[in-house]
Amino acid sequence: MWPTAELHVHIEGTLEVPLLLTLAQRNDIALPSHDAAVLRARYEFSCLQDFLDVYYDNLAVLVHERDFADLALAYLQRAATAGVRRAEIFFDPQSHTSRGVAMGTVVRGLSRGIEQARELYGIDGALILCFLRHLGGDAAVATLREALPLREHFIGVGLDSSEVGFPPSLFREAFEIAAAEGLHRVAHAGEEGGPDYVWEALDVLGVERIDHGNRALEDAELMAVLRHRQIPLTVCPLSNVALRTASADLAEHPLPVMLDEGLLVSVHSDDPAYFGGYVDDNVAALRSAGVVSEATAGRLAANAVMSSFLDGDAKARLLDEVRAYGAARGIELLAPASAR
Ligand code: ADE
Ligand code: ZN
Repeated sequence: MWPTAELHVHIEGTLEVPLLLTLAQRNDIALPSHDAAVLRARYEFSCLQDFLDVYYDNLAVLVHERDFADLALAYLQRAATAGVRRAEIFFDPQSHTSRGVAMGTVVRGLSRGIEQARELYGIDGALILCFLRHLGGDAAVATLREALPLREHFIGVGLDSSEVGFPPSLFREAFEIAAAEGLHRVAHAGEEGGPDYVWEALDVLGVERIDHGNRALEDAELMAVLRHRQIPLTVCPLSNVALRTASADLAEHPLPVMLDEGLLVSVHSDDPAYFGGYVDDNVAALRSAGVVSEATAGRLAANAVMSSFLDGDAKARLLDEVRAYGAARGIELLAPASAR
């Protein structure tokens, strides 16, 4: 497995059915069914909103700090087996605080799981607080203010949930506060929304990475900016298939075009418990669809590391690890697009 960085994973989307059932029992929460097969049968989606409805429903089982710690630990244990050395993990605090769970319970629990995983599996985790766009800009500001006393537990902010109808510009103030706090900034854009959402994320929110960004391909001028500035795009192929934002046939996925266009793209899992796999599964699916070669898989791993928020030394060390993995298999990684 190529050593890599996972930059686009929602911790709530890593809630696998067995843990869902365990937590439901532990916290005495009623689910639509307590049969794993019946629960899994709900994971057929025709669009982003279809998925989000099930995703938010299932979060009722997360109540105590320990539940959040268990969720993060389970994810990081699995991620370590996928070659992930660094995981920058999204969490959606509003999906918990809106149910009466305290911000501190969420943040401290996830943080504890990350610390445990560091000790047990040597994996490096960090949290990115995401605003739910369907709750609007004022709620995002209030959420950030509520979380700032816990600032040491997260490295950045992001923007997720229902995209169309909730453009990035609604969140200008929250992102300005985040920037003033020295937090990193990312946003989902161009998943279901058009290239205008990507423009706004860059120009209004000042994001450093775009999550998804597939629809940027529709705008040549935007592509030129993304290429020139080497703005990372965190692409999630199995998610795109599951949510029908790309063809069901992975062979037609736009990833090779994005690479050919010189964009800084990398491959990630989004919501692995719902979309059929972790980062290794995504790469394996691309490999078996004939979309990427082994050398390109290495390039994608290196791109992920380059796109991470690791500091310079840690990034260089992890890039060396990726190169050494390739060299041991006779694969010499090309210089990244930005250095060509
Ligand atoms: N929240 C969890 N997964 C998401 C996705 N793929 N898009 C937007 N919001 C999300
Ligand atoms: Zn996502």
